[in-house]
Amino acid sequence: MWKVRTQVPQGEEDVGEDVGAVREPAPEVLAAFEAARGFMPRDEGLALHAAAVEAAGLGLPLLEIGSYCGRSTLLLADAARAAGTVVVTVDHHRGSEEQQPGQEYSDPELVDPERPERMDTLPHFRRTLAASGLEAHVVAAVGASPVVARAFGGNGGGLFGLVFVDGGHTEEHARADYDSWVPALAVGGLLAIHDVFPDPADGGQAPYHVWTRALASGAFAEVGGERSLRVLRRVAPGH
Ligand SMILES: C[S@@+](CC[C@H](N)C(=O)[O-])C[C@H]1O[C@@H](n2cnc3c(N)ncnc32)[C@H](O)[C@@H]1O
Repeated sequence: MWKVRTQVPQGEEDVGEDVGAVREPAPEVLAAFEAARGFMPRDEGLALHAAAVEAAGLGLPLLEIGSYCGRSTLLLADAARAAGTVVVTVDHHRGSEEQQPGQEYSDPELVDPERPERMDTLPHFRRTLAASGLEAHVVAAVGASPVVARAFGGNGGGLFGLVFVDGGHTEEHARADYDSWVPALAVGGLLAIHDVFPDPADGGQAPYHVWTRALASGAFAEVGGERSLRVLRRVAPGH
């Protein structure tokens, strides 16, 4: 069950707002998700899928920043397919700083065969999506996130029902993703942010700073999520 957190007086139990039974991803999509390379654990993935199913009910496209090899994209595409919409997913496919050859999260199988000093996740992304049967529900934008946002028509352009932030995890990139895409999130839509770690001992702080900034803006209310996957609802314009 997908629960929306509500403000409750001190001492009373927060039972959340029950917004209905959550449709699980199709079994073959869940299997493809489990098999795909990526950084999204199953429990956080299911929470992302639940958010995407709800947000897709707005009838607007969903947006992902950080396609990588398509793991989380599969879940968003499953939700988009069920609602008759699409997911737009943005990535330059050259990897984040920490994924570069020799860095903590590098994967030697993802280097560009013609240029081993750089990464290329695009062929892997293509294969993941093609094998899942979800290709028709995915629009892949290959480029730097702020550049794609500008090309979409000025600071994000059209409206999305969900914005999922999982691109570069430096302060600079996370801030640019927020500035570029959050203005394009419809009122009532959901903002999902991955790798939100309030305690610096658990991980980098940039996604956490995006989350605190959204809450401080007054335009968002916390909805829930799962561990480091946090979900907020846009309740007013602004960012
Ligand atoms: C953490 S991975 C995404 C993981 C994916 N969502 C998953 O669950 O498997 C981050 C991705 O963001 C991309 N990225 C980082 N900075 C970017 C930027 N400024 N513009 C576009 N893509 C970027 C990287 O290429 C990388 O594929």
